[in-house]
Amino acid sequence: MSASVLKRELRAALERARGRTLRLLELVPDEFLKVRVHGFYSPIGWHFGHIGRTEEYWIHHKALGRPCLDDELSFLFADLPENPKDNRVNLPSREQIVEYLARTRQCALDALDEADLSSPDPHMSGGYAWYFAFQHECQHQETICEMLQLIHQRRPVERLPEPHEWKSSLPFPDLVQVPSGEFCMGWSHPFSYDNEKEEHEEKVEGFELMRRPVTAFQWSQFMEDGGYQRRELWSEEGWAWRVREEAFAPEYWLVDARGYYYFGPQGVRPIHPDEPASCLGWFEAEAFCRWAGLRLPSEVEWEYAARLGGPGQLDPFNMVSPGARGDLAGVEPVAEGPGLLGLSGYVWQWTSSPFSPYSGFQAFPYDGYSKDHMDGRHFVCRGGSWATAPELRRPTFRNWYVPTYRQGFLGLRAAR
Ligand SMILES: [Fe+2]
Repeated sequence: MSASVLKRELRAALERARGRTLRLLELVPDEFLKVRVHGFYSPIGWHFGHIGRTEEYWIHHKALGRPCLDDELSFLFADLPENPKDNRVNLPSREQIVEYLARTRQCALDALDEADLSSPDPHMSGGYAWYFAFQHECQHQETICEMLQLIHQRRPVERLPEPHEWKSSLPFPDLVQVPSGEFCMGWSHPFSYDNEKEEHEEKVEGFELMRRPVTAFQWSQFMEDGGYQRRELWSEEGWAWRVREEAFAPEYWLVDARGYYYFGPQGVRPIHPDEPASCLGWFEAEAFCRWAGLRLPSEVEWEYAARLGGPGQLDPFNMVSPGARGDLAGVEPVAEGPGLLGLSGYVWQWTSSPFSPYSGFQAFPYDGYSKDHMDGRHFVCRGGSWATAPELRRPTFRNWYVPTYRQGFLGLRAAR
């Protein structure tokens, strides 16, 4: 790709991402902009400023070695231990955040115009810092969607809409035979994240994998069969979590005498029985598998199955996988088709694999992105949700959380 085409693609990617970010900001109620709605999260308004700050930091400061536009805002929007989440409530107004986003963006685009992308500097080389900023913005969009759900969970529900009729004709477990084989795992492209490198060969024994992610109806059967009360279905650690949290349904589910509802990013809505079950932690996924006589697939198995006959070459600017739809629609029943369905664009799918480095891993651009989480306490989920930007829904993308985390758009596709 010539430098001018690369610059054009980077600019278009950044603009696409920014359109989504600004649409999300419109959904944030004023009274929640600066509020921490959950111990895990900074205030939602902080994430918007942080997108601009990160872009400026990696492009303007690290790639070009220039000073920050605004030291005060640069510190406020930095994800640093010396700037704790409780400090991040001291935010400027919505208009000032939008203005900061515009200023930092202009800076990034001006820098792109001037940049020599053949520079050996690893931040500059091939446009790395711009693509990093783009992916970073996309990832925070998903966090913002999670927080919009938390906001709606905390608002009083005035009136529940009619629930969906609670029945399903989908078979369970609907397993697809995945044959034994070898494949090239990971992605060594200059734009890939450090944890996707290096590409390497993996061998996989034949196994069975659910055709689609576990649905809400199937999850409700686990619940109705005492899934959250039966000690034998849970690991020791999982049970301790279950008791401590008094969990009885996935996060964001509202179980009412009339039916099942979900706190989405635009308010409460009825759950469709055939939509993938979402917002459940690794311990819950594990208990469900035990109940069903199934298991979680490893991430090697997941990626192998997802790439079987699929993408050889991955295109960083056009990585839209089947199931990709517009943002904000929320999760819907998986579209019909041949083979494995709903691999991405619906829910992330938990795997049995702890987040660990591939051979040849080198932390870049900083330890805090991947390396600090490769501690045996985080588990990998794969695929990408409805709130994941289409460009990030590549079969090699690795996401990870601790087993108790269930605020994300997390589901499962069990194996045998
Ligand atoms: Fe960030």
